[in-house]
Amino acid sequence: MSDILAIYGSPRRNGNTAALLKHAVQGARDAGARVEEIVLRDMKISPCLEIYGCRETGRCVIKDDFHKVCDLIAASDGIMLASPIFFYTVSAHTKILMDRCQSLWVKKYWIEKTPFSGQQNAKRKGLFISVGATKGKKLFDGTLLSVRYFFDVLDTQLWKSLLYRELDFEGDILKHPEYLNEAYNSGKSLANLV
Ligand SMILES: Cc1cc2nc3c(=O)[nH]c(=O)nc-3n(C[C@H](O)[C@H](O)[C@H](O)COP(=O)(O)O)c2cc1C
Repeated sequence: MSDILAIYGSPRRNGNTAALLKHAVQGARDAGARVEEIVLRDMKISPCLEIYGCRETGRCVIKDDFHKVCDLIAASDGIMLASPIFFYTVSAHTKILMDRCQSLWVKKYWIEKTPFSGQQNAKRKGLFISVGATKGKKLFDGTLLSVRYFFDVLDTQLWKSLLYRELDFEGDILKHPEYLNEAYNSGKSLANLV
């Protein structure tokens, strides 16, 4: 049975990205995967303090819920990450997690001296879900770059992105059952793939 980690990155518990990710989780479960769900806004995770306490072992020295997330990432075969677009990047909750994963970057590239492979031999596959209120062509460009490099650190290939424009208020996503359906099917496909 495959293990998938679903990371809710919005401060809204029942917002647009949360609804999409819930559908993806359901799809993955229906395909037989075991899915762990974490809601970043409910976790106590400090921002990276840039003290490089991780330099010796690759383990972050700040003691908080980040280590729970780390263990769940390590145990997963696939990752589903959902974040709204905030100022053309991910939410602060998501960015804090990304920055704390600098300890994993240190482990991978400084300690283990892994050659950069551009996700060629990634252990995991990842699904990224995002929404923004506006409709600009470049709405997701910056975020996708961040997510690609973040996933690389997690040994995760960005397998698929679901990106939806013109969704702002909580519940806007409910006007688009086709998006929710796409999320459900993507969760299912990811579970079948990993
Ligand atoms: C702090 C903040 C910054 C935002 N920045 C952007 C932005 O740069 N571009 C955009 O299209 N929407 C922006 N939005 C709108 C959100 O992306 C939008 O409301 C989205 O549907 C929220 O998703 P959620 O319900 O999953 O949290 C912003 C909203 C907030 C609260």
